[in-house]
Order: sequence, then structure tokens, then C-alpha cells
Amino acid sequence: MSPQNQLEISRRDLLISSAATVAITGAASGVAAAQTADRSMTHSSMISLKVNGESRDLDVDNRTTLLDALREHLNLTGTKKGCDHGQCGACTVIVDGRRINSCLTLAVMHDGDDVTTIEGLGRPGNLHPMQAAFVKHDGFQCGYCTPGQICSSVAVLEEIKANIPSHVTGSLTEQATISETEIRERMSGNICRCGAYSNIVAAIIEAAGTRA
Ligand code: FES
Ligand code: FES
Repeated sequence: MSPQNQLEISRRDLLISSAATVAITGAASGVAAAQTADRSMTHSSMISLKVNGESRDLDVDNRTTLLDALREHLNLTGTKKGCDHGQCGACTVIVDGRRINSCLTLAVMHDGDDVTTIEGLGRPGNLHPMQAAFVKHDGFQCGYCTPGQICSSVAVLEEIKANIPSHVTGSLTEQATISETEIRERMSGNICRCGAYSNIVAAIIEAAGTRA
């Protein structure tokens, strides 16, 4: 075989072996990526929540929202899923004394936290003053937004008591007061498609009076 032919074969062999290497490397990295994706898809965590005063241990997929953990794992279906995007407030619960949209936070982020849902505020026959005020003032029609509205309302009164200002609070140095304007502003993240807003505000002001 002439040196020229030898050179051609070597070049051809080199191209073939390079192509094979690329294919094998590509396949290997594809397998590695699939394994990584598979691991993350199946990864779960043990967490412990204190829900409505009771310790609850859960084994949850890391991607589970607090809302889904409450509804699907603990069967606390009082907390509603409206938009699932942080835009309606139907999923509002109280975590360590502060209201949050439970659809926007992962359950694993709340290991050890104290969670209060609508079921923990009161029950038929033993209603929380805010629940009683909503009933008295017809602060609902279909009721879908109501658990979120009530949890939010309870936290709003605590925020005012703690002198946490809202966008409409006139003074940052004086004690915040309960007014219709304050209530409407602070409750603006809780949407009611039935438009029961006036009655909701009346209920909150009544409950604030009851508390006082
Ligand atoms: Fe969470 Fe709408 S369901 S904000
Ligand atoms: Fe129907 Fe508020 S009562 S959405």
C-alpha cells in the first residue's frame, strides 16, 4: 500500500472513530442528564408541620406547594385553590402569624412552621369572631374565596395591631387605625369574584370592634 493510500485510510479511520466518540459521549451525557432529571423528579423530603395546633409529619415531593400539602396530603380542603399563581388570595393561610399565599411556597420551606388554616380558626358551633362576622354581614355569596378572605382578615387585624403600615397608612410614626380605606387596601390581594367586598369590609370592621 502506497504512503498516499495509508494516509487516506488513516484519515478515514480517524473520522470514523471521532464520530463514534461523539456519539458515545452524547449518549453518555444524555443518560447522565436523564438520571439527574429522574433523581430530581423522585426526590422527596420528610417534613414536620404544626397544623392547627397538631404536629403532622409528611413525606412530600420537594415540588409540592404548601397548598397541595394541606389539601392533598392532609385533606384540609377548606383552603381553596383559585389561580394557583399568587393572584387571587383564595389559598391564604397563616404561617407563624403572617398570612401567605400557600400556592406560592413549597411545603419543604415550612418544616417546623406553625400553620393555621380556616379549619383551625373555628368550627360550626364555635366560630372565630371573624367567621361569625362574615356570616352576620353576608360577607360571601358562593363562598369559594371566603376561607382565604377570613384568614387574611384575621392577619390584617394583627398587622394593624402590630403597627405595620400599608400603602395608605397616613403616618409611619403613629399607631395604624382600622378604617374602611385601610381594610380595603390591606385586603386587596384577596379577590372575590362575587363582589361581596362591601359586606366583607363591614364584617372585618365588626370583628375588629368585637376584638376591642
Ligand atoms: Fe393562591 Fe390564587 S390560589 S393566590
Ligand atoms: Fe364567591 Fe367571593 S363569595 S368568590
